[in-house]
Amino acid sequence: MLRLAVVGVGHLGKEHARILSTFPGVSLVGVVDSNRAQAERIAERCSTRAYVDPRELMPQLDAAVIAAPTTYHHVLARELLHAGIPLLIEKPLAATCDEAGELVELARSRGVILQVGHIERFNPAFEEVQSLPLQPRYLQAERCGGFTGRSTDTGVVLDLMIHDLDLVLALTGSEVERVEALGVSVLGGHEDIAQARVVFRNGCIADLTASRVHPEPRRRMQVWGVEGYAGIDFARKTLSLMQPSESLRRGMIDSRRLDPALASSLKAELFGRFIQQQQRDCNQPSRADQLTRELEEFVHCVRTGATPRVDGEAGYRAIEVATRILDSLRSHCWEAGAIGPRLLPPSRGPLFHPATREAA
Ligand SMILES: NC(=O)c1ccc[n+]([C@@H]2O[C@H](COP(=O)([O-])OP(=O)(O)OC[C@H]3O[C@@H](n4cnc5c(N)ncnc54)[C@H](O)[C@@H]3O)[C@@H](O)[C@H]2O)c1
Repeated sequence: MLRLAVVGVGHLGKEHARILSTFPGVSLVGVVDSNRAQAERIAERCSTRAYVDPRELMPQLDAAVIAAPTTYHHVLARELLHAGIPLLIEKPLAATCDEAGELVELARSRGVILQVGHIERFNPAFEEVQSLPLQPRYLQAERCGGFTGRSTDTGVVLDLMIHDLDLVLALTGSEVERVEALGVSVLGGHEDIAQARVVFRNGCIADLTASRVHPEPRRRMQVWGVEGYAGIDFARKTLSLMQPSESLRRGMIDSRRLDPALASSLKAELFGRFIQQQQRDCNQPSRADQLTRELEEFVHCVRTGATPRVDGEAGYRAIEVATRILDSLRSHCWEAGAIGPRLLPPSRGPLFHPATREAA
C-alpha cells in the first residue's frame, strides 16, 4: 500500500483527495488544511483523518500532493522534501524562481520524484498535437475566464498564463531569447490581464493572452508550422487541423498568374482542395479524466522511479519565463510616469453611459 496525503484541500485539493481515495493500492492516510473545519469536512468525505499541520503525519507518508495556495508551496514542500517524501505540487511550482530552484535542487539531492500539476499536458487534444510531425514556428494562446475569487495571492501570469508557458516550452523545446509584456490590474493589486510575446532562440514566436476578468471562458491555442496548422480547444478537447495540398507545397500555383478557371477554383475550393482541413474530437469517454491520469502518473513514478512528464525542471522553466514576463510588464511604460500594471493611465472619459449605475 502506498500511503499518501493531500496538503491543502480547497477547490482543487479536495478533488485530488477524492480521486486518490479511490485508487487501488493507495491509502489516503490523511488530508491537511490550515482551516481545520475544511480538513475535517474533506476527511469525512474521503473516509480518512484530518490534520492542520503536515508534520503530524509525515512519518506515515510515502508521498504527498500539495494543493495549498501558491505562496505556501515552497515552505510546505521544503519540509516534506527534506524528509525524502516524493511530491506532486500544483502549478505553479512556487511563487518565485529562487523558491522553485531550491525545491528542484532539494528533490534532486534527496533523489525523490518531484512532479508539477501542469494538467493541460494530459489534455488529449494537446497530447495529439504533440504526437504530430508539426514543428511550431508561431504559437498563439488565449486563456481567459471570469474572476473566481481564488489564487489572489498571485497575478494572472502565475495563475493562468503559466499553463500556456509550460505548453509552448514543451512544444518548442527551445531556449527563450527575449520577452515583451504588458499587464493591467483591473481589480487592484496583481495584474488581472496580461499579454506577452516570447521569442525563442530557434526563431519561433509565441503570443500569449491571459485574463481573469473576461466575460466568457476561453482556453485555446493555435500552432503554426511548416507542415500546417493545429488549433486546440482545451475545454472541448477538439483539434482543428489544416495543411497545404501537394500543389501548394510544390509551388505549382502563383496567385499573380492565374488563368480564370484556376482563379475561380481557388476561390470556390481554397479550403478542401488546396488547403485540406480536418476536425478531430479527442474526447475518449473510455479514458479517465485529466486529473485522474495526472495522479495515476504520479503514483506510477513514485512506485517505479520513472520521470514524470512534467518534472521539477519543467515547472522551474515555466516560472523562469513567467518571471521574465512579470519583470517586463512591471517595467512597461504606458506613458511618462505611469509604469507597470498597477497604474492605469488616466482616462479621457467614458466610452458610453451604462444603463445601470454601480452600487456605491
Ligand atoms: N492545475 C490546475 O488547473 C489548477 C486549478 C486550480 C488551482 N490550481 C492550483 O492549486 C493551488 C490551490 O488552488 P485552489 O484553487 O484549490 O485554492 P483554494 O483557496 O480553493 O484552496 C486552498 C486550500 O489550502 C488551504 N491552505 C492555505 N494555506 C495552507 C497551509 N499553509 N497548509 C495547508 N493548507 C493551507 C486553504 O485553507 C484552502 O482550503 C494553487 O497553487 C493553484 O494555482 C491549479
